[in-house]
Amino acid sequence: MTYYYNGFPQSERDQKLNMVNVDDLEEKVKQIMPEGAYYYIASGSENEWTWRNNTAAFNHYQIVPRALTDMSDPQTDTEFFGMKLKTPVMISPIACHGIAHKDAEVATQKGAAAAGALFSSSTYANKSVEDIAAAAPDAPRFFQLYLSKDWNFNKMVFDAIKKAGYKGIFLTVDALVSGYREANLRTNFTYPVPLDFFTRYMGAKGEGQSVAQMYAASAQKIGPEDVRRIKEETGLPVIVKGVMCAEDAFKAIGAGADGVYVTNHGGREVDGAPATIDVLPEIAKAVDHRVPIIFDSGVRRGSHVFKALALGADMVGIGRPYLYGLALGGAKGVESVIEQYNKELKIDMQLTGCKTIEDVKHAKIDHIPYTADNLKSNTDPSRMKPYPKTEENQIKGSADATSGASHH
Ligand SMILES: Cc1cc2nc3c(=O)[nH]c(=O)nc-3n(C[C@H](O)[C@H](O)[C@H](O)COP(=O)(O)O)c2cc1C
Repeated sequence: MTYYYNGFPQSERDQKLNMVNVDDLEEKVKQIMPEGAYYYIASGSENEWTWRNNTAAFNHYQIVPRALTDMSDPQTDTEFFGMKLKTPVMISPIACHGIAHKDAEVATQKGAAAAGALFSSSTYANKSVEDIAAAAPDAPRFFQLYLSKDWNFNKMVFDAIKKAGYKGIFLTVDALVSGYREANLRTNFTYPVPLDFFTRYMGAKGEGQSVAQMYAASAQKIGPEDVRRIKEETGLPVIVKGVMCAEDAFKAIGAGADGVYVTNHGGREVDGAPATIDVLPEIAKAVDHRVPIIFDSGVRRGSHVFKALALGADMVGIGRPYLYGLALGGAKGVESVIEQYNKELKIDMQLTGCKTIEDVKHAKIDHIPYTADNLKSNTDPSRMKPYPKTEENQIKGSADATSGASHH
């Protein structure tokens, strides 16, 4: 079940995952992933306030349940840039999937395609864009661009993604240098598996780079003129990834951006930046449906997807959880993670009388500023004391008696 790349253990698993929620996967992943790799994925920057607050801040918004509605058969299908998708949950771009699985982005793409979800590849992917495309030829995919200072590198990337049939570009503008991520320093993390575009361009010199070296190669100044130039040179829609205020949404749209991606990079860049859900309503108002809005950071529940859609997002990205799914179950693990979000989302749709994603976009959300942290539920395994086993509290008879969940 384990393959070693230069001594680095890569999972070879390919199995559906059972989970009660996506957070369940994090503890399990530690069993199979080296410490430095786990912390590279899991951690945020500095004190990790923004990383924690991304999820906690969903509590500031409340879903208003609706009564006397039709609760049967909600549908999560949606359309995005003409692509037909089975879910508004999207695979956000993440570097180096090879730290989670031997088949890296190829497996993630297969899992996303099986779930009918939009996949996006990072510029720092291990697998080539051609191999990723071949893994699911008919599936829709976007490409995330770290613009390089070197336009020859950019041109190589543009040619490759166009030929491989990528449908659009997420231009990342919030990570022109890496945030201060202490975990990477403590573990001396470097990418253990080569990143395709860098070995293609630099040969062996592209291998074994640290996160800091990678960022040093990217452009540290990206302006509206770059948005225009990338659009011209690729002929693809360009969505600006890393918009956190209304002014920057105006700026991006003014530069010709075809979409606005609201994210704080999963709390990995500016610690102390607001949670994304707290800035979404202001940005949605500024954008006013002129272009689609993509949203991510801290989304761990179907209810978080629901809230983001209802507050103005058209597509909701997930990051770390699918990488844990990839490590624990390969392509099928990624598919299971997306299914878990959909399962929870559908329940919220039923309880609010939403039959379609369009209905969710018009659902009623209250905003009662609420300062409690993201409290763990009483059934969270870390809070649950070992349950006493007595003669009296054991279910007797058929084993099926334990599998019938209550509907009330
Ligand atoms: C390990 C890791 C690597 C990432 N690599 C990239 C990247 O290469 N390009 C990019 O635009 N965003 C990258 N991101 C940010 C994600 O696209 C996304 O914004 C973030 O993971 C969402 O937050 P979440 O993990 O809390 O769901 C990365 C995030 C993580 C956790």
